[in-house]
Amino acid sequence: MTIQLKVNGNAHTVSVEPRMLLSDVLRDELRLTGTHVGCEHGICGACTILMDGRPVRSCLQLAVQAAGSELCTVEGLADGSELHPIQTAFWEHHALQCGFCTPGILMTAVHFLKEHPHPTREEIREAISGNLCRCTGYQNIVDAIEAAATMIDKDVS
Ligand code: FES
Ligand code: FES
Repeated sequence: MTIQLKVNGNAHTVSVEPRMLLSDVLRDELRLTGTHVGCEHGICGACTILMDGRPVRSCLQLAVQAAGSELCTVEGLADGSELHPIQTAFWEHHALQCGFCTPGILMTAVHFLKEHPHPTREEIREAISGNLCRCTGYQNIVDAIEAAATMIDKDVS
């Protein structure tokens, strides 16, 4: 079947099997390989994207369920060559090692900071508790999200 997907502001017409996962369509059909796939059953959070502004695990969605929604993947965060503050903060705070978990954590954090512009470290830890990272020990990730909150706060004030 043919569906329309709107991803990072771009409309795509794609031909999919009804049972195809959204994560597979993003990666294999649209070549948006920034969305990583780890567990493929909703545990690791690596495949997190935003659907209509809310974080979803794209490995738990069928592509057909996303038709008509606004999707945002990690490729949609930067504005041209200008990184999103969350990306700058991860860069500056060395908040990644292998980077496998990073896209999912960035998308989770972007939504979290919209809802909690002045988070405590405890709230940050809670927010990313569904995103598994095997490398960093999380400390630098929490530092980066805290720093991004300050950067975004300065940008809007
Ligand atoms: S790949 Fe989707 S939650 Fe792990
Ligand atoms: S940086 Fe390697 S899994 Fe998080």
